[in-house]
Amino acid sequence: MNVPPDEGLLLSLLLKIMNAKRTLEIGVFTGYSLLTTAFALPADSQIVAIDPDHREAYEVGLPFIQKAGVEHKINFIQSDALSALHGMQSNGESAEMFDFVFVDADKPNYIKYHEQVIKLVKVGGVIAYDNTLYRGFVASPEKEVPEQFQVGRKVIRDLNTLLASDPRVEISLVPIGDGLTLCRRIV
Ligand SMILES: C[S@@+](CC[C@H](N)C(=O)[O-])C[C@H]1O[C@@H](n2cnc3c(N)ncnc32)[C@H](O)[C@@H]1O
Repeated sequence: MNVPPDEGLLLSLLLKIMNAKRTLEIGVFTGYSLLTTAFALPADSQIVAIDPDHREAYEVGLPFIQKAGVEHKINFIQSDALSALHGMQSNGESAEMFDFVFVDADKPNYIKYHEQVIKLVKVGGVIAYDNTLYRGFVASPEKEVPEQFQVGRKVIRDLNTLLASDPRVEISLVPIGDGLTLCRRIV
C-alpha cells in the first residue's frame, strides 16, 4: 500500500525544491510517505495527515516517526478525509494554506477530493495524486481488464480526464510507482 522508495525520493526532492512548509496528506497507512515528507520539510513545518484508521496501520509506523525525531511536524487527524476537509473549510482558516497536498486514499473519492483540495492549496502549490496509471489498466480496453479492477480503472480514467481539462491546474503524469499526477495550481 505504501509508495515505492523511488517515488518517495521524488516526492522528497520536489518538496525541497518547492521549499514547502505546510503540507496535507490524505491516506497515511503505516506512514511511509508521511515519514518521507516529514524528513524533507524544515523543522518548523507542519503536516496535516488524515486517515480514518489509526491503531491498525499508523501505529505500526509511528515508532519510526518518533525515532526519526519528526513527530512534532505531524498533526494526525483520525477521520474520513471528506469530513475533515469540510471541517477545515468551514472554520475558514484553511483556504490556500498548503504548499503541497498528497492524495493517496480511496480512489472513488478522488474527484471529490480535488474540488476540496484545490481551495486549500496555494496558487503555485502542488497537488499530487497517486495511482493514476492504476496498474496500467487506464490504457487497456475495458474488456481486457479483470473484473475486480474495472471500477477502479473507470474512476481513475475519469479523474485523469478531469485533471487534463481543468484550467485551474497544469499537470504532469509521472510514470513512477503506480503513476503520480502532479498538478500545479495556476489560478
Ligand atoms: C495506499 S494507503 C496510503 C499509503 C501511504 N500514503 C504511503 O505511501 O505510505 C491508503 C490509505 O487511505 C486510507 N483511507 C481509506 N479511505 C479513506 C478516507 N475516506 N479518508 C482518508 N483516508 C482513507 C486507508 O485507511 C489507507 O491507510
